[in-house]
Amino acid sequence: MSNRKTIIAGNWKMNKTPKEAEALLGDVLNVAKGAACEVVVCTPYVDLPCACAVAKGSNVNVGAQNLHFKASGAYTGEISAAMLQELGVGYVIIGHSERREYFAETDATVALKIGAALAAGLTPILCVGESLEQREQGIMGEHIRTQIKIALADVAAADMGKVVVAYEPIWAIGTGKTATSEQAQEVCKLIRDTLAELYDDATAQSVSILYGGSMNAKNAAELLAQPDIDGGLIGGASLKAEDFGKIIAAAK
Ligand code: PGA
Repeated sequence: MSNRKTIIAGNWKMNKTPKEAEALLGDVLNVAKGAACEVVVCTPYVDLPCACAVAKGSNVNVGAQNLHFKASGAYTGEISAAMLQELGVGYVIIGHSERREYFAETDATVALKIGAALAAGLTPILCVGESLEQREQGIMGEHIRTQIKIALADVAAADMGKVVVAYEPIWAIGTGKTATSEQAQEVCKLIRDTLAELYDDATAQSVSILYGGSMNAKNAAELLAQPDIDGGLIGGASLKAEDFGKIIAAAK
């Protein structure tokens, strides 16, 4: 048995105004009561002050969906790690495929963001995953190993206990097309093997690896039962407290 943390993290993406966020988070707090796993909700930036206030003293952690890697300066429209940390944010999603695809994030900027998050004491949730084309071309493994190696190039073994990795096949995100538990397990194991290569086996065994991509109340239990899947990063189903609660309940 590993002593890895099981983490159920919601990614609200660009949904919920501050008022709506307050209501949804209130419901999430109810369904998360007594959870056997770590629960995280990653909200839009403007919802964070309210979310941190509502979640204070509860077992629900608040996360952001991005940050800028610079500490401060002339970067119009950006948010620094220190700004998030001061609010009481504990987690931050880094390198989500939507950010890589629509906002030109690269493996290099992802690496800088991981460093900024760790320096500020935030837990980065590093997202990696292949497109359908890459899977069909047989370069999935290579692609994911490259993403991991570049993102973690400057992270010391001692800091890996504070890093969470999420495997999110792009073809499964928001499509209702979930990876089978075998497919998800195969890649989560590949990620763990890559971590063992980069660091050592004990370090690799200590890292929580999540699966994301159309995880829902129905398929969560089977995915979470896989030996190398330590939780989920949940988009659509995290916007309905009842469904999110069922996923939390499936995480033992
Ligand atoms: P989904 O999104 O659960 O809606 O597929 C997952 C994610 O993008 O993190």
